[in-house]
Amino acid sequence: MWTHRHLLGVESLSAADIDAVLDRAETWHALCRRTEKKSTVLKGRTIINVFFEASTRTRTSFEAAGKRLGADVVNVSSSGSSVTKGETLLDTAKNLEAMRADALVVRHASSGAIDFLASRIRASIINAGDGAHEHPTQALLDAFTIRRSKGRLEGLVVAICGDIAHSRVARSNAILLGRKGAMVRLTAPRTMLPAHAETLGPTVRVMPRFEDAVRDADVVMMLRIQNERLAGAMMSTTREYSRTYGLGPVALAKAKPDAIVMHPGPINRGVELDPHVADGNKSVILDQVEAGVAVRMAVLDLLLTGGNHTPSDALSSRP
Ligand code: NCD
Repeated sequence: MWTHRHLLGVESLSAADIDAVLDRAETWHALCRRTEKKSTVLKGRTIINVFFEASTRTRTSFEAAGKRLGADVVNVSSSGSSVTKGETLLDTAKNLEAMRADALVVRHASSGAIDFLASRIRASIINAGDGAHEHPTQALLDAFTIRRSKGRLEGLVVAICGDIAHSRVARSNAILLGRKGAMVRLTAPRTMLPAHAETLGPTVRVMPRFEDAVRDADVVMMLRIQNERLAGAMMSTTREYSRTYGLGPVALAKAKPDAIVMHPGPINRGVELDPHVADGNKSVILDQVEAGVAVRMAVLDLLLTGGNHTPSDALSSRP
């Protein structure tokens, strides 16, 4: 039974909630592979994407997700909006709600900004990334990708590597994967590790040496250095970083033979990821992007309908 009105973070999702999203995403993933990728479960609803930070994948996939479910989707970006004239986040959201938006998908540079909105707005609020805090749909699509590739999450060893301190992706993944019984290893230069990283979950361990974290891992998840959060100042040189914490074929050979390589994008090729690995046969990076649409469809569906319908009824019979 789905009971949430907002999706603010994976922190508030139980293991059963996570399964509900991933299971429903399977149906929508099948729909997305058809020629006619259209359902009517959100017909008549309005979803507004409000992005105050740059985005390619998240914004586009939320738009595709809403449209494929039959909703009307409107996009607002901070650069062309009245935020540049000094309007506050709350006023912006209240104005969009006055237009009878059913859901606001919000990305913001400040940690906690989305939680602040949710307590003041009636529409469903979906966190599309807030500062270094949470990025719940990214963690859900990563879990979906891992589950499809490995058949399970429980018991897998997942190494998350790079700028952990500033990464909402790492935080949401560590919490979600821990909740689903995966063993999470975090590795980064000391300056890029948050204090008390191990408190993210009972199965989360910090491993300062990159090689130790990657050894025998089932999944190696690489992260971009979040220069917009001044992370670049926390390392000596890009070359040195890439030599010690970048994933190339030699380091990858230490992982399990059937290990998969993940990255939320955007990749800084040659920094955290060797181009041969990014494009190699272990990379599931574009599978993650494909999963992003299906998982966001599942989230919109569950939040706006409560999941009170059989999704397969909404699929047309045409393959
Ligand atoms: C991530 C983000 O914005 O947090 N990107 C994404 O949503 N796929 C990671 C990043 O920007 O490095």
